[in-house]
Amino acid sequence: MRLEKQLAYLDTHFDLFLNDLTQLLRIKTVSAQPVHAADMVAGANWVADQFRSLGFLVELSSSGGPPIVFAQKLPNPAWPTVLVYGHYDVQPPEPLELWHSPPFDPEIRDGKIYARGATDDKGQMLTHIKAAEAWIRSTGDVPVNLKFVIEGEEEVGSRQITDFFRNRQSDLACDVAVISDTSQYAIGIPAITYGLRGIFAAEVTFFGPSHDLHSGIYGGAVANPVTGLARVLGQLHDASGRVAVPGFYDRVRELTVAERAEFGSLPFDEQAFLDDVGSISLFGEAGFSTLERKWARPTCEINGLFGGYTGPGPKTIVPAQATAKITCRLVPDQNSGELTAALQAFFEERLPPGLRMEFRADHGCDPMLTDTESPYMEAASQAIERAFGRRPVLIREGGSIPVVATIKELLGVDTLLLGWGQNTDNLHSPNEHFRVDDYRRGIAASIALMGLLSPDSGMK
Ligand code: BES
Ligand code: MN
Repeated sequence: MRLEKQLAYLDTHFDLFLNDLTQLLRIKTVSAQPVHAADMVAGANWVADQFRSLGFLVELSSSGGPPIVFAQKLPNPAWPTVLVYGHYDVQPPEPLELWHSPPFDPEIRDGKIYARGATDDKGQMLTHIKAAEAWIRSTGDVPVNLKFVIEGEEEVGSRQITDFFRNRQSDLACDVAVISDTSQYAIGIPAITYGLRGIFAAEVTFFGPSHDLHSGIYGGAVANPVTGLARVLGQLHDASGRVAVPGFYDRVRELTVAERAEFGSLPFDEQAFLDDVGSISLFGEAGFSTLERKWARPTCEINGLFGGYTGPGPKTIVPAQATAKITCRLVPDQNSGELTAALQAFFEERLPPGLRMEFRADHGCDPMLTDTESPYMEAASQAIERAFGRRPVLIREGGSIPVVATIKELLGVDTLLLGWGQNTDNLHSPNEHFRVDDYRRGIAASIALMGLLSPDSGMK
């Protein structure tokens, strides 16, 4: 398959493609913050307009949250159908003072475009829309049936997506799904991700007295919820770094000898890793390498901890309450519902005397692994090789994308996780960026993948 016209279109229009990304990055689609509700709608409309201008059939749907954009272009019912998923929502930009340029005022420096969402996931998601544009404008249509689902709640746990997939199951039928919301293995080493961790989120609050008390008048005679919570949180891990919640490891599938060998054969520079994260030493469960800890072992992280007085100077109180925000990352075959209950029981059984507690479960999704031997994997490898100049390595990742398990469960297909970004792009951190070259190569790879999946590619 030659793709000359499509790739020429990419070349001549790349500046415009970059400009379009800049426009989308200006919209403050922070799904976690209610003040951005109108921006979420603006983001969805911007995405919908891209599809409309390309002749897609477009629907926006919402059951209260940010709209899900569903766009379809189905040139021939006999052709294979590819479902592309992405998200237009972004993580909160805070802390703002650490950004070198404002998070919603995109700036290109050193060949990287800086803005919240540049890589996660606006830039990566847009590569597939631009690939469709290149096909349509240079050949008249796309070479496969395309369905896009672009949502605005991925970063807060995809609250509406399961119902959307359930309601529209038959409209979403496809042969394979594609998501670009992961990373390459490293600069110069493209990757296909065949496994993601699952996750569940919870918030636990310990209550003591009904209001903050003078710690001189009452201290010592009333249970302190901050002390009590700290005591229980301190028991979450044992001395070797293993999660101490009973039953936590019961369903953990051990890595195969072959996987450990493959992970071990990937180049891993410990010092570069430490420089990237800014920590002084490696850390984690005994007996596992850093890649194994990140990709294939479960964790329980305290994401935030607050209670009592946290302003400047001392304040002598017995506080009324304390809260911890917790997320656990899960690996096959752990179950998010089961372990949410196990975590709740862990706190209930250890609640110190004199305190009450409340446990609120938030989002959750199960871990996933895909078939690494499918013809779709092979097509994706070839497409990446064409665009990036070398065959991708197969990796797992420690992050989560809730819809992947939903796609498998409700549509019965595997998802190709084709990450164009880098883990060092500062996703979820200040100064998030996306390499302009990765944006371009991502579009080229998507163009090639659509071609290779089409009936007249000669593949299969
Ligand atoms: N794009 C990330 C997931 C990711 C990043 C996977 C890098 C692999 C490598 C995604 O947007 C994300 O952050 N997801 C959340 C999901 C959660 C809120 C349910 C996550 O993993 O924290
Ligand atoms: Mn993402």
